[in-house]
Amino acid sequence: MPERPAKPGTTVYLYELAWILPSIAIPVGMLAALTVTAFGAGLHLPGVEGRVPAAQVAQTAPFDAPGVRQTGPGRYEVVMTSQIWAFAPNEIRVPAGATVTFVATSKDVVHGLLIPRAHVNVMLLPGQIARVTATFERPGEYPMFCHEYCGIAHHTMWGKVIVEPRS
Ligand code: CUA
Repeated sequence: MPERPAKPGTTVYLYELAWILPSIAIPVGMLAALTVTAFGAGLHLPGVEGRVPAAQVAQTAPFDAPGVRQTGPGRYEVVMTSQIWAFAPNEIRVPAGATVTFVATSKDVVHGLLIPRAHVNVMLLPGQIARVTATFERPGEYPMFCHEYCGIAHHTMWGKVIVEPRS
């Protein structure tokens, strides 16, 4: 009489478990990190804010007149262009507590706008409009940097936000 074939094994060996568990835990952990940063820390990807013709940024509103303007009590808008190797404007003055929305793009190559002390970190693509809002609570200087390598003088591409004490 032939022996019955053994039932398919259901044994999970420890070394298999040692691979299975992290392969579940790591994606779950990443998803949790994404959820926390998106909803808790307020980080987000650039949205579709609009485009202007990359070659005509300087002639196209609002980028034909870069600068700072007040849009309400304690609220400011900075229309900013970037080009090799400068931001315009590259010195911005606002009072402490100001909420500032940067509307920015690039005239030529890929640049970036990084203001570490204000949690501003956005890429500036030619003709693509980036919009990012930050609140500047404490008086002082907030350096802003280009953080995308944009050529030989990339390291000189920086400016600052000067936050003045409230009078
Ligand atoms: Cu602009 Cu680096």
